[in-house]
Formats: sequence, C-alpha cells, structure tokens
Amino acid sequence: MNARNRSYLSLAALCVIPTVSPAQDAHFHNAPASTIDQKNPLAGQQAAVLAGRKLYAADCSACHGATGQGSGNIPALSYGPTQSAADGEVFWFITTGSVGNGMPGWGSLSEQQRWQIVVYLRSLKTSAKENKPGSAPGKFAPVKTNAPLPEPPYTDFRVEQPGKLRKISVQDLPAPYGTDSANNGPRLVARPDDAWPKGPDGFSVQLYAAGLDNPRLIRTAPNGDFFLAESSSGKIKVFRGITAAGKPAESSVFVEGLNRPYGIAFYPPGDNPQWIYIGNTDAVVRFPYKNGDLKATGAAQHIAELPHGGGHWTRDVQFSADGKKMFVAVGSASNVDDPDTTPQEKNRADILQFNPDGSEMRVYAYGIRNAGGGLAINPRTNELWCSVNERDGLGDNLVPDYITRVQDGGFYGWPWWYIGGHQDPRHNGKHPELKDKAIVPDVLLQPHLASLEMAFYEGSQFPAEYRGDIFASEHGSWNRSVRAGYEVIRVPMHQTGRASGEYEDFITGFVVDNGHVWGRPVGVTVAPDGSLLVTDDGSNSIWRVSYTGSKAEKSASERKHASNTPKSASN
Ligand code: HEC
Repeated sequence: MNARNRSYLSLAALCVIPTVSPAQDAHFHNAPASTIDQKNPLAGQQAAVLAGRKLYAADCSACHGATGQGSGNIPALSYGPTQSAADGEVFWFITTGSVGNGMPGWGSLSEQQRWQIVVYLRSLKTSAKENKPGSAPGKFAPVKTNAPLPEPPYTDFRVEQPGKLRKISVQDLPAPYGTDSANNGPRLVARPDDAWPKGPDGFSVQLYAAGLDNPRLIRTAPNGDFFLAESSSGKIKVFRGITAAGKPAESSVFVEGLNRPYGIAFYPPGDNPQWIYIGNTDAVVRFPYKNGDLKATGAAQHIAELPHGGGHWTRDVQFSADGKKMFVAVGSASNVDDPDTTPQEKNRADILQFNPDGSEMRVYAYGIRNAGGGLAINPRTNELWCSVNERDGLGDNLVPDYITRVQDGGFYGWPWWYIGGHQDPRHNGKHPELKDKAIVPDVLLQPHLASLEMAFYEGSQFPAEYRGDIFASEHGSWNRSVRAGYEVIRVPMHQTGRASGEYEDFITGFVVDNGHVWGRPVGVTVAPDGSLLVTDDGSNSIWRVSYTGSKAEKSASERKHASNTPKSASN
C-alpha cells in the first residue's frame, strides 16, 4: 500500500491486517534461505565461548547489554528472535548488519571470530522471564568526556538541571550527519552512595518501591491504585496507598503470564471501570475489573492482534474521552526501513484506532516512528497526545524526539521526512507529495532522549502553575556521543491546554558519567495526593516526587512562625 492510502484502509484490508505475515519470522532479517543449514564449525566448544565472550564485551555489549538483555530500543540477544534463528542466519546477520537501523556489519572480524560470537550468544540463552537488566555493582572505571559543552538549545547530562527551560525550534536543526552516529549505550551500575534523583527547589524525591522486575509503564486507576507493567517477566502488579513512611500499604500481582505487557487502560473512562485493557507486544487483551480488585477475576479476553517482532515492542493503549474509540500505538519494526517495500512495517509507526471490542481497525495517524512508549488524553481538550522516539543514525543532534497532540489522519514524517519537510537522506527523492503534509510536532525534545510515558498533571499538591502540565520520562539512548536524557521532563502548558514548544528538565541525577548510569525513567503517573510516581528500570524502583515547599516559602513561614512564637518566660 502506498503512503497516501495508508490512512484510508479499505474494509477488505481490515480483515487481514491484524495477522502478521509469517514471512516476517520465516527468515531472520531476510537472511538468504541457504544460511539456515549452515553449521557452526565451533558449535559447543568451550574455547569458542570464552573467545566469543571477549569479542562480545568489546564490540557488542555497549548496545546489546552486558548479558545480551538489550537496552532501550536495541533488541535482546539472550532471548527472542536471535535464539530461535539458525546459527547460519545469525552469522549472516552479524556479518551484514543493518546499518540504516543502527546495527553495524561485522565483516571486519574474521569468520572464526564471528562464529565464536555465535557460540557465545547461544551460551547467553535465557527466557524473557529470567532476564533481568544487568547491573554491575561495585567498582568501575569512570568514563570521562572531553567533548565541548553542548551549544544551546542542545543539551546533555552535564548541563541538565532541574527547572532549566529549553526550546528547540525547526530553525535550530543541523544538517544530517553533522556528527558521526554514536555507539554509546550506557552500562548500568548500582546507585552510588552519593547519588539520588533531584528536582527543582521545593521538590523532594523518595524511594516508593524497590526490588522490582523491569518496571515499565505505571498508571493510576480511577480508585487511586497504581497499576505497573513488569514487562520482561510478563506481569501486571498493583500498589495501593502511600504510608506515612512513603511506601505502598499493599501490593499484589494482578495477572501474570502475559507477553511483554506495557500499555494499561481502564474502560469505560470515568469512575466505574468494568475492564482493564493491557497492550501486550502482540495483542490487546482485557480482563474484568472493578474498583478495588487486586487480582484479575476472570481470564484474558482477546481484543485485537497487533503487528509485532523486530524493534519497538511497547504498545501503549488509551481510550478517547467519550469511550467510543481505543487508540493503540505501534512503533516501527526498524529504524528507517521503507514501509512501501518492507512488509514488516505494515501498520507500524502508526497510532491505530479500534472500537473498544477490537473491531474496525483503522490508521488514526501515521509516520510516527514510535509512540508505543506513551499515549495520553489531555483532560482539558480531550485530544490524544503522544510521546515519540525519533530515528537514529543521523548524528548527535538529529532527529528531535517529540511530544505532540495527534491529529486524526495526520502524517508525522517517518521514514521519508522528519520534523516537517526535511527529507531523510536515506530516502532521498521519495514521496515528494508528502513533504507538505508532514506535521511539525508541538514540542521538539533534545534528539535521543528516548521519550516514554507521559501524563497530564491535574493534582493539587504542586504549585498552581503546574496544573495542566505534562510530565514525561526520558529513558536515554545509545545514539548520542555525550548522553542526554535519563531524566523526567515537564512540558509547561500555561493553563491553556496547549504547549508553547518549551520543555523543562524536572528530575535529573541518574547519570554517573558518560559511560555509566544507575537509573532510567520509563513511567510516570500522578498519585491521588498530587505527588508524582516515576518508574525506573535501571535501578528497578519507583520514585515518588513530592512538593514540600521552596526555600523562599520555608524561610518566610519560619520567620512568621518565629515572630508568632511567644518569647520564652525565662527572661
Ligand atoms: C551501535 C549499536 C550496536 C552494536 C555495537 C551492535 N549492535 Fe547488534 N543491533 C543493533 C541494532 C540497533 C539492532 C536492530 C537492527 C534491526 O532491527 O534492523 C541490532 C540487531 C542485532 C541482531 C538481531 C536481533 C533481533 O532480534 O533482530 C543481532 C543478532 C545482533 N544485533 C548482534 C550483534 C553482535 C553480535 C554485535 C557485536 C559484534 C552487535 N550486534 C553490535 C545495534 C548494535
């Protein structure tokens, strides 16, 4: 289907869309059929495991993680497609790479070395269930950077500062390939003793829950309980209440055994939901739910198949304010593969719309590389908004991630165009008719922040100016030479329901140095008391951000208090 027709899916197409073409899984990354039967000459040899481990640590772990667990948008190798593909196919893919998608080719290594890596990858095999993001506590060598400080409006971890406003405009965009495409995945380390998340003056951060298993999206139920997706172990957990010590009063596993659950939505919207919808990586399912349930009371009902496989596995789900439509964000399978010629990209890099029973799928908006990390309904305008990871490989300061309201039928550029009518050089000359259709998003973020869950703040604890604002989690990426992100940002809406293009660093402090981080924000939700809960799949915890009063307010109230206090009777 060509791009122009993508938003006008015919009814006939609707019946077949939800099934993913089996061709996608038949040949790992379209490896030539002959590679399937190719035997690994070193299979099972312990010496090859050891040699492969060294090569892996040097060449692969920065992106795929120390134990092959994957990081950010980079696929895991210890489970998933790599472990089900044939040795010959994996060997072929390592040799060829997928350069446009950020995976280098490794033809520079000898054949023997590439086979050694394949043997080592086999030794990493775990189930997604067992998989835990690697964390290396203890000592590590600091990684310094001598790079010059970023020139505004661009930023990196060295200048991120709670309360600092930033604004990136279309005129600020550099030309593509202004810098090399970086290979700078973070190594996760245990939180150093002197590190703690920090907010602007007047805000304090406490640890709400720790020891979680890959905590990702978090959403507050209408009754005030917090629902958390622990995606890699397939669980949805519930946390209830905040004790005087700032901890959950109760917690429970709501349901387990799901396939990489992420999105969570209560239906119908309002105070009395009957269902909880979950966005698994391959399908939307729902469970019966009423206020107060801590465990699912019935089996999963299957609502809609979703295209899946390749990169971008998260699927956020939201309902329109009137409850008539369900939105599901499905990110692209690749970095920038052309959907015209890549069947796996069909109905991806889109926000799909369904009826709540899963019928009548259509593409609501397209060219959105990956909004799977975060959809939200603006309670003031009822518009759908999204938080988007833009593409890699064009240099440190391209392409801005973004947060925007989503227009019905809107085209947001991917993969041929970006941020309005800028052509991606990897697709020169394609789709000139879409140039003027490509929408410039409302809020441009620093490129490679990896923007995930977003939430509108309508709480009453923070100062009045925060009401109606957006908070979003920035997970950080491998594709920036000096890392940026690993923070929570605020998008001021100026009490208008509209963004002005600015955003602000809000919670920072998760980066140790240019090689190491200890925390990575993923989810954000507003608690009934107006505090903010932030999930972090680096330290596997949930943080709680409260407003406790600015220094100026405190000293004013202390002075008042002092003058009201009767003088001691002793004089
Ligand atoms: C600069 C980051 C980077 C480095 C370094 C890197 N990779 Fe990758 N790798 C990627 C990305 C991004 C993808 C996804 C590519 C795609 O979907 O087309 C990927 C995909 C893969 C896949 C396919 C996984 C799947 O589920 O589809 C394999 C296998 C793989 N890499 C192996 C390796 C090995 C082995 C090394 C080291 C020799 C390595 N990679 C180094 C970024 C990297």
